[in-house]
Amino acid sequence: MAIRPLRFLGDPVLRQKAKRVPGIDDSILELIDDMFETMYDSEGVGLAAPQIGISLRVIVIHVPEGEPFALINPEFVKRSGQRTVVEGCLSVPGYRGEITRSVNVVVKGLSPEGKVVRVRGSNDLLAEALEHEIDHINGTLYIDYLESMDKLQKIEPKEQEEAEGEEEEELATEQ
Ligand code: NI
Repeated sequence: MAIRPLRFLGDPVLRQKAKRVPGIDDSILELIDDMFETMYDSEGVGLAAPQIGISLRVIVIHVPEGEPFALINPEFVKRSGQRTVVEGCLSVPGYRGEITRSVNVVVKGLSPEGKVVRVRGSNDLLAEALEHEIDHINGTLYIDYLESMDKLQKIEPKEQEEAEGEEEEELATEQ
């Protein structure tokens, strides 16, 4: 396992539509391990392969209230409802923004064992993370949903420290 360098806003790999994984082999399993390690190192709740420079449809998610999981070739089965969330991204560090996301999200994909699995989020961080990470593999960033870049809020370092101390619902999580 290894922590791989994160890619940041401006890197073209974040804007590419990532390729489907044709088959799960050791290199994919190693990629998933490294994605988890990189995500935990950065204290994120989700990560997509393009964020470490790999243009493949692989995502990992670990929200505080759930178990960690990886999905290969994830796709939406259903999305419904609208809600406002404050979101952040490991590839856009130091910022957050208020955007609209779905309330209910159902995604299917392959587990690392090659089984078809469905993951369901409803009005929670999991629903948000599923949309955020699948956006990543389609070359979309949450900032694309802002009316303008002026709407991006800078997180002050002090505020960020406080945010790490308390766990407030409205705080942006990085994905
Ligand atoms: Ni992100």
